[in-house]
Amino acid sequence: MLIPVKVEKALNAHLGLEMAAIYHYLSVASWCETKGFEGSAAFFYKQSAEEQLHFMKFFNYINQVGGHAHVPELKKPQTSFKTILETCQKSLEAEHKVTVSIYKLVELARAEKDHATEAFLKFFVDEQLEEEMQFNRLIDRIHLIGGGPQSMYYIDKELEKLGGTTAEATE
Ligand SMILES: [Fe+2]
Ligand SMILES: [Fe+2]
Repeated sequence: MLIPVKVEKALNAHLGLEMAAIYHYLSVASWCETKGFEGSAAFFYKQSAEEQLHFMKFFNYINQVGGHAHVPELKKPQTSFKTILETCQKSLEAEHKVTVSIYKLVELARAEKDHATEAFLKFFVDEQLEEEMQFNRLIDRIHLIGGGPQSMYYIDKELEKLGGTTAEATE
């Protein structure tokens, strides 16, 4: 194996978080779609598809360096939400957990002098910062638009700008 066993184990553990993110966004997208928030549904389907790419990047990397990627066990994600604001807050929390895990992976790779894995993780360090900034911005926008049932329409439009159409996202 081209990377330390400790790093392989930690990468495998991280797979669970990326898979949980796929499920989380899929569950949020589905809730949005059933409530008629099409823009938000498209945005969250796209997020779920992106997480699938992240998951596969980790999965393929583990096997490429001679390790053995394991499909993680998962719990069922939350299926219903009160507002779009809540879906964004839960998403930010989930993204933050992923960021913490990636930072720990970087620290471990560094401690083990595993420069290859540290270089591989760079993409994810940048990606996590973008994701957290995006949800921070969205939550700020939602607070500006305000609560109340009518404002949900405008919030949905905000997310639509970021997600394309549901058809595109699920094609
Ligand atoms: Fe991710
Ligand atoms: Fe993410």
